[in-house]
Amino acid sequence: MNSSLHLTFTALWCVVVVLGGLPFSSDAQLDPSFYKDTCPNVHSLVRDVIRNVSKTDPRILASLIRLHFHDCFVQGCDASILLNDTSTIVSEQGAFPNNNSIRGLDVVNRIKTAVENACPNIVSCADILALAAQISSVLAQGPNWKVPLGRRDSLTANQSLANQNLPGPSFNLTRLKSAFAAQGLNTTDLVALSGAHTIGRGQCKFFVDRLYNFSSTNNPDPTLNTTYLQTLQAICPNGGPGTTLTNLDLTTPDTFDSAYYSNLKIQKGLFQSDQELFSTSGADTIDIVNSFNDNQTLFFANFKASMIKMGNINVLTGSQGEIRQQCNFINGNSVDLATTVTRESSEDGIVSSY
Ligand SMILES: *[C@@H]1O[C@H](CO)[C@@H](O)[C@H](O)[C@H]1NC(C)=O
Ligand SMILES: *[C@@H]1O[C@H](CO)[C@@H](O)[C@H](O)[C@H]1NC(C)=O
Ligand SMILES: *[C@@H]1O[C@H](CO)[C@@H](O)[C@H](O)[C@H]1NC(C)=O
Ligand SMILES: *[C@@H]1O[C@H](CO)[C@@H](O)[C@H](O)[C@H]1NC(C)=O
Ligand SMILES: *[C@@H]1O[C@H](CO)[C@@H](O)[C@H](O)[C@H]1NC(C)=O
Ligand SMILES: *[C@@H]1O[C@H](CO)[C@@H](O)[C@H](O)[C@H]1NC(C)=O
Ligand SMILES: *[C@@H]1O[C@H](CO)[C@@H](O)[C@H](O)[C@H]1NC(C)=O
Ligand SMILES: *[C@@H]1O[C@H](CO)[C@@H](O)[C@H](O)[C@H]1NC(C)=O
Ligand SMILES: *[C@@H]1O[C@H](CO)[C@@H](O)[C@H](O)[C@H]1NC(C)=O
Repeated sequence: MNSSLHLTFTALWCVVVVLGGLPFSSDAQLDPSFYKDTCPNVHSLVRDVIRNVSKTDPRILASLIRLHFHDCFVQGCDASILLNDTSTIVSEQGAFPNNNSIRGLDVVNRIKTAVENACPNIVSCADILALAAQISSVLAQGPNWKVPLGRRDSLTANQSLANQNLPGPSFNLTRLKSAFAAQGLNTTDLVALSGAHTIGRGQCKFFVDRLYNFSSTNNPDPTLNTTYLQTLQAICPNGGPGTTLTNLDLTTPDTFDSAYYSNLKIQKGLFQSDQELFSTSGADTIDIVNSFNDNQTLFFANFKASMIKMGNINVLTGSQGEIRQQCNFINGNSVDLATTVTRESSEDGIVSSY
């Protein structure tokens, strides 16, 4: 019969379309076992370097999580943030949210060297950033998850997009939500990912307006606990150095836990962008803060899911982009690698917010 023949062809055609579509799909799936055969020890290679550095620099764990976040929000998780200024690249490192505040570039280069020694030309810098974020969470006693892998590195960077896309410490809830929504991240993701501020440090210049002259009112931010206000005013005098550091979580500064949310509930969030989640009247974020405060397991489950979701933003896969040999330069546009090694071992001079 003609009609049954037609059905068979239709069914076959569907199979061909489905199978044929997969390898060319632009949102090809990342896979936690991507390096199973080509670099089976990649996770422990990354972990060993970070664990080592964190013994003398506990702040590095927050710095590495932030590096992945600041990578993903700008043309996707493609290690574009790692590209240095060259004749063809205007580095994202010079964008306002990054300049004098990102840290860990030297640590990423040390990781890359360790990984290249074991498995040359296999592991992308973008995957190193994603692994470093998960490992940092675990080393700070936070949530653990299997990191989907297989990202490739960009051939471009975009400083103006970094200025446009990265949320700032003085953002109100409306702007926070829209910055996250622009990356496909919803309100639950916003509240969960903000919980990364359970570790790390912030520079005075990012919140000093809240202490003396909030929104040009000549008064402190009314959503700042008065005890905490006095503490912070002592750390950050009006007109003092903007680079002085203080803990983002005043209770357990280096432990990844739900104290970030209990701090918000007593008006002890450091940045305006933190406190907005709880102090914006009528906001849908309040219930989420309460639920993460009440149940750390719930916070951890949401944090994992949101980190994986963020790690999927606009990834390059398959034959897109490249595997960079040196994370600060696209291939063929590199400097003498010997110079790089010398610089790596020197002290990181970047003054930092985290
Ligand atoms: C760890 O640090 C020590 C000294 O700081 C150094 O000798 C060692 O090579 C480091 N190991 C790794 C894996 O970075
Ligand atoms: C980054 O900050 C330094 C001061 O530390 C400044 O000289 C430089 O111009 C800034 N870069 C950009 C791109 O604004
Ligand atoms: C940066 O991103 C903006 C906005 O998407 C785009 O218009 C611009 O062409 C990009 N610049 C570079 C150098 O890729
Ligand atoms: C949030 O900030 C934006 C930009 O500064 C401003 O236009 C808007 O009115 C603010 N929204 C609220 C609810 O304060
Ligand atoms: C946010 O997205 C996640 C899935 O990624 C979903 O489970 C959750 O319900 C969403 N939350 C809101 C408030 O839409
Ligand atoms: C507060 O900020 C406004 C606007 O920038 C400024 O005019 C005013 O002098 C500031 N007040 C104080 C006490 O610094
Ligand atoms: C301010 O912090 C104290 C504890 O230091 C707390 O008892 C009080 O409730 C907080 N105030 C507000 C308005 O949350
Ligand atoms: C806390 O959240 C977890 C994960 O969603 C859930 O399984 C557990 O039942 C919750 N615990 C309480 C006491 O509600
Ligand atoms: C890349 O630039 C950073 C400053 O943003 C610098 O610390 C680092 O040494 C540079 N890397 C190389 C390999 O030149």
